Amino acid sequence: MISMKYLSGFYNTHSSETEEGLLPSRQNSPQVCPQNLFAEQLSGTAFTKNRKDNLRTWLYRDLPSVKSSAYILDKDLSQRFSTTNAEHEPNQMRWLPLDSPSEDQNFVAGLCPLLVNPVCMIGLYAANSDMQNQAFSSADGEWLLVPQQGKLKVKTEMGELEVSSGEILVIPRGIVFRIDAEKNSRGYFIENQGSRFELPNLGPIGANGLANERHFLAPTASAEQASPYTVYHKYQGQIYSYQLEHSPFNVRAWWGNYYPYKYDLSLFNTINTVSFDHPDPSIFTVLTSPSLNPGVANIDFVIFPERWMVAENTFRPPYYHRNIMSEYMGLIYGEYDAKAEGFQPGGGSLHNQMSPHGPDAATFEKASQSELKPQRYEKTLAFMFESCHAYQIMPYGKAKLTVDHKYRDCWQTF
Ligand code: FE2
Repeated sequence: MISMKYLSGFYNTHSSETEEGLLPSRQNSPQVCPQNLFAEQLSGTAFTKNRKDNLRTWLYRDLPSVKSSAYILDKDLSQRFSTTNAEHEPNQMRWLPLDSPSEDQNFVAGLCPLLVNPVCMIGLYAANSDMQNQAFSSADGEWLLVPQQGKLKVKTEMGELEVSSGEILVIPRGIVFRIDAEKNSRGYFIENQGSRFELPNLGPIGANGLANERHFLAPTASAEQASPYTVYHKYQGQIYSYQLEHSPFNVRAWWGNYYPYKYDLSLFNTINTVSFDHPDPSIFTVLTSPSLNPGVANIDFVIFPERWMVAENTFRPPYYHRNIMSEYMGLIYGEYDAKAEGFQPGGGSLHNQMSPHGPDAATFEKASQSELKPQRYEKTLAFMFESCHAYQIMPYGKAKLTVDHKYRDCWQTF
């Protein structure tokens, strides 16, 4: 198999063409484009946004996106994404992983929305097959995918990316994509409806550390032959579909700074104490979507990767806490250090605003007595979607996922 080519950097401006000479060299919208391609601008921010935050990409394609059938509401899929009757939940929650997908279930059919708040929607996916001549896009926000199991081959308007467990993929708002899933693929998604994910400021850490810009990879242009497609489009919380007599992946050249990207979480430069106590878990932030309130994130995407524990005279698992932010956690592989039992890869937990939580009783006993030699936490990767808004539980996910009803008991044995 030919390994995929990527362009490196975080929101750098890139250019890519499937053959030399397809990008107009002097201007964006010449009277006639090379090979009679159609020029189309995709804006990710208002035209007048500050230059450093301004996002747009120019696409040069066989046909413009506007050549499509009308949008038709898909009532079944829209019902799945309905937030009507979503419920507040102050109890500490834990769910088991999604059931294995049925034989021919593709990514769209296997979407399971679970949580919603004013700035995002969180869910899981389980897929067993390719989307073939189906594609998806969201006008409501950018999608961050966290594969937990199975490789995904993702075709987008800007080109193809492959992502596996241990990597993440971000598809900005509006970009059309198709996912070909390995057997028994599953993972998590978040739709970020606020400002785009960015890298956190590093403050006293300095110029380097945490996730570094060069490890973010964008695709290179690749177009496919014409074929009819059904495109599902999430718009204002509902799912519409429209028909194309051609492929939406007909972009032969593009330039700009608005494109999908992937990141290998094993490249995260983890920083932690070398003396005592814990820095707060913000030290593990990979990407953040800021709110309008400085220092407060709509969403932080945080990971708990393999790392050394060396803190002296310290209770090393996460401390007990109540948090003004709300936390959804998932487990990609291994064990999470606060809960040796019960938290399964592919499962999830929810600790909403000010709901207390921390290590279970068995973990507390063990960690209070263990010898504090340097210890490496290996073969573990958990993550958190942390938000300044409490999450409500959506009816579809509530019905589809199995609650671990014993979860709250783990603190009752002290
Ligand atoms: Fe927490």
